[in-house]
Amino acid sequence: MTIIINAITPNFVAEIYDVDLAQPCAEDLHAIKQAFWKYAVLIFGDQKLTPEQHLRFSEQFGTVEMDRVLAAEHADPRLGHAFADISNLNREGKIWDKASRQRLYKEGNKLWHTDSSFKYKPGLCSLLYSTSIVPIGGHTEFADQRTAYDALSPEMKARLQGLIAMHGIEYSRKRTGFMEFEQSEANRLPPVPQLLVRTIPESGRQSLYIASHIGAIQGMGAAEAEALFQQLLAHVIQRQFVYTHRWRVNDLVMWDNRCTLHRGTDFDDMRFVRDMRRATVSDVANTCEQAGVAVPA
Ligand SMILES: [Fe+2]
Repeated sequence: MTIIINAITPNFVAEIYDVDLAQPCAEDLHAIKQAFWKYAVLIFGDQKLTPEQHLRFSEQFGTVEMDRVLAAEHADPRLGHAFADISNLNREGKIWDKASRQRLYKEGNKLWHTDSSFKYKPGLCSLLYSTSIVPIGGHTEFADQRTAYDALSPEMKARLQGLIAMHGIEYSRKRTGFMEFEQSEANRLPPVPQLLVRTIPESGRQSLYIASHIGAIQGMGAAEAEALFQQLLAHVIQRQFVYTHRWRVNDLVMWDNRCTLHRGTDFDDMRFVRDMRRATVSDVANTCEQAGVAVPA
């Protein structure tokens, strides 16, 4: 079977048809990977995936992350910590409490970010599968950091060359007012260095690599670093670089965390159930290491 690719724009976002991700053949997998390196966001509709099948497909791209940020996030009894719970449900499967820690923490998903840039070995790609969607809102928006980089002025490109940003989960959560990390959680995830501009090996394209997880830039004062981050973010999320995905049940959407930003949009989370699970595949190494740049102490 050969997949059908419907490109949404020439180099960013494609819908893939005529494939069953529960049992893709080698030829399909090869074609999906080629499309992924090109389009950075792929949409597969009408997939019937068990957690095991979701995990098996994700593993085609590398090692799936098994560490979760919050200590209390429970493991699936069959699959360990393979999935992030992207739902508004509590452990009992009911809509969460308005004041719950889980709800406050997940406010951060509404900020523009890329998954796991706050880990020393950041996220390569994420694969999000929907089992329950909401009638209004609850979309996921994606921004192309490659094309946004291409559109920067030569002066800005020169300024960014070699800059290293510090990414931390505490930084992004502070932006939403979530301050209650337990000491064990904070100790597990100290801020990490990542290049601000990176090259994607498969395409050779350069890309910005910013996220709301950024809290500092090496060699810059706090105010200057934040101003630069905000300036770059405003640039990347201009309409011409952004695709909005309106979910259908049984969509699997995968994105390249190395060169895209995403965020969840608002919905009435005390009224409607939105239930999705996400697997995130780790990148091969820290961005500095990949570029042969000395990792700052
Ligand atoms: Fe995310």
